[in-house]
Amino acid sequence: MSALPSPLPEADCRICPRLAAYRDDNRAAEPGWFNAPVPCFGDPQAELLIVGLAPGVTGANRTGRPFTGDWAGDLLYQTLAKFGFSEGVYDKHIDDGLRLRNCMITNAVRCVPPQNKPVGAEINNCRPFLAARLAGLPKLKIVLSLGKISHDSVLRATGVKLKDAPFGHATAYQLPDFTLVSSYHCSRYNTNTGRLTEEMFENVFADIRARLS
Ligand code: URA
Repeated sequence: MSALPSPLPEADCRICPRLAAYRDDNRAAEPGWFNAPVPCFGDPQAELLIVGLAPGVTGANRTGRPFTGDWAGDLLYQTLAKFGFSEGVYDKHIDDGLRLRNCMITNAVRCVPPQNKPVGAEINNCRPFLAARLAGLPKLKIVLSLGKISHDSVLRATGVKLKDAPFGHATAYQLPDFTLVSSYHCSRYNTNTGRLTEEMFENVFADIRARLS
């Protein structure tokens, strides 16, 4: 079996030509932005790993921290604070001093995709980095997937068949090495349309808190 790569792709990773070209364009237009694969953020001894979709162009791709500066980050970081998974104040930039407690955040795809939509090959290309992230958390108990792309990629990383653990909001499946809890993504679209309410999102975190205690 081949060894897993580092959980972080190289800064100028070119495995996905479309994503590399988009990064190049963004770097040319906005040289002050992060414009690279976004690293995981949080506690290396975390029991909870949150897996989003991919960096937003003016959010994590700009700031260099998952969900930071994104609309989706406002709800995510507010909820993490409410459930005791963070210390400090989230202030939408990487130097805000925020620390995560017993929690880490990553994305199924580490580079910003055009229109927020990675294609299947890009999700597959990035999966070894997700698998390395999963394997590198010694105390991991729960993975929270935000959205179906994250859910399916986590399943594929573990070798569990998608049909045995279909995505749904507030589902929980015991996998060999951790429990996979899933939620609708906390995106602007989902919250604006009412598909995901704050209460629904908080209920998912209440369930996770109960599972960790
Ligand atoms: N920002 C991220 O880093 N990930 C998402 O899934 C959405 C916004």
